Formats: sequence, structure tokens, C-alpha cells
Amino acid sequence: MKVSIIGGGGLVGSCAGFALQTGGIVREISLIDVNAELAAGQALDLLHGGPSTSDQIINSGGYEHIPDSDVICITAGLRRKPDESRLDLINRNVDLFVKILDGVKQAGPKQSAIVFVVSNPVDVLTYLAADRLSLPSSQVIGLGTQLDTIRFRSLIAAELGAPPTQVKATILGEHGDSMVPVWSSATIAGMPIDKYPGWNPNLANQLFTRTKGSGAEVIRGKGGAGFAVGIAIQDVIESIALDNRRVLPISSVQAGCYGIRDVALSVPTVVGRTGVIDHLEVELWPKEMQGLRNSGNVLRQTLETVLARIGR
Ligand code: 2OP
Repeated sequence: MKVSIIGGGGLVGSCAGFALQTGGIVREISLIDVNAELAAGQALDLLHGGPSTSDQIINSGGYEHIPDSDVICITAGLRRKPDESRLDLINRNVDLFVKILDGVKQAGPKQSAIVFVVSNPVDVLTYLAADRLSLPSSQVIGLGTQLDTIRFRSLIAAELGAPPTQVKATILGEHGDSMVPVWSSATIAGMPIDKYPGWNPNLANQLFTRTKGSGAEVIRGKGGAGFAVGIAIQDVIESIALDNRRVLPISSVQAGCYGIRDVALSVPTVVGRTGVIDHLEVELWPKEMQGLRNSGNVLRQTLETVLARIGR
């Protein structure tokens, strides 16, 4: 399977390339970037590690890589400042993003291609991509709250001294300020989280607050996230490549799941070779359901402003 990463010269795109290389599942990784020299340097640096990782084709270039790409991952965009919300980014990134979408469309992607949006605000841009590209909406997905979910799990594990891979807790809704923690189904080693040694109810708010602020916390520390974003991107792309139908909290246009429609946000989503296989309306606590619907309303309001701005 071939993956093209638009914005592959940047921090997020190159970390995604590195994650896919160490994962060894995809066959070809192409880094596309307006800064061709940077993308070529990133690709060469990845290539050099090939003999000790996996037998892949790694290259860089322009939109000539689009027609034979199975997954087109869009990471390009301006990064937000620590005190800026992802939605604040909207005006600066929408114009750039629309140009990228039109370039992808013009380059002629495969009818089976999956377009995978990472650029922020990811839920709004995922909706725009589904609206603008002539691909089925099931083939247009966004990273959504998969990154927030692995951050959430990592912070719970660190706080309780639990193995991170055995902490199962999900964030749904907007990849942004209205994201929703799902405590109702949170477990560690298959046991309810509130039965785990060291747990106390005060931890719930503290851990979720830190999760929600993690993007800004990393930006303050190092200017922008890269490693965990790359891992989250790999989680999704490998579920596509292997068609292993993992249930992941990724963003896609909703058509009624949890009563939400005509907006892109993250719900439990079965991810396979053809993109969104299904949305699963797993039972939530009433306050979680309310939070999810609030996310949909917040995003819909922004969407209407953006759609009006681009004359849609
Ligand atoms: C983050 O939360 C880049 O939106 C991404 O770090």
C-alpha cells in the first residue's frame, strides 16, 4: 500500500513517515511538501534507516504521487500558538487547505483512495474534504480524537503506574476544547478503572483537563507535537492497510450516529481498507452523550461560518 503525506517535510508529516517506517506495514511512503528540499531531506534521512527497519520504497516529490496513492494523508498547515485554539486557526488554514484539496482533485486520485486529514482544525477540514472531493464520504477521514485518546491513556497509566497498553479509555467528539472523556467504559487490564489501586474520583477531572491541554502543553515545550501524532496516524493507516477493522475514535462526517449529522467529529468507528466501515453507537452515560452532542453543535456553528466564507 502506498501512502503519500502532504506536508511530509514538516514535524507532523515526517514523524508520521517515521512511524510508518518503523511499523513496516505499508509498502511505499512519499513525502510531498511545498518545501521540496526539506521533504527530500526528510525522505533521505528515512531511507538511510531502511536496512534496519523494513523493505519499503521511500521518496519525496509533488502531486505526481497522488494518482497511485492508496492513502493521501494531509498534515500541511500552520501550527497554532500555545494560547490559540484549534478553531482559531480556521481562517489561516482553510484557504491553504482548499488549495491542497483542489490540487489533490486535479491530480486525479484513485477512486479507492482514502483521504486522511490531520491538519487543524481537523474536524472542520475533514468535513470540507468530504464536501469538496468527489470521493464517497466513507473514504474521507480525520485523525480526530485518536491522538487525544492515546494521550488520555498515557496520562492515566503514568498517574496509576499501570501499563499504558492495558489502559483502555476513549475521548470522543471534537479534537478540540469540546472533546468528551468516556469514563463509563474505562478499564485497566479489563477491570473497571475506579476499582484500580490508587484510583480516586478527583483524578478523573485532573487527568482529563491535562489531556485536553496536552497539545498546548507540548507546543509550549517544543513548539508542536510530532512523535505521538505520528503514532496516532500510524494506528489509523495500519488499520486501513491490514483491513483489521479496529474500532478507533476518528473523525468522519456523521449521518445520525448518536443523533448527530452533517458535521465531522469522532465517534467509535470501524476502520478498514475502504475507510469508514461503520459508526458504532456504543452506550454512553447521559452526560457523555450530552457532551458529544455539544461537540457537534460547536463544530456545526464553525462549519457554517467557514462554508459561508468559501462560498459553499
Ligand atoms: C495536537 O493536539 C497537533 O492538534 C494536534 O497536538
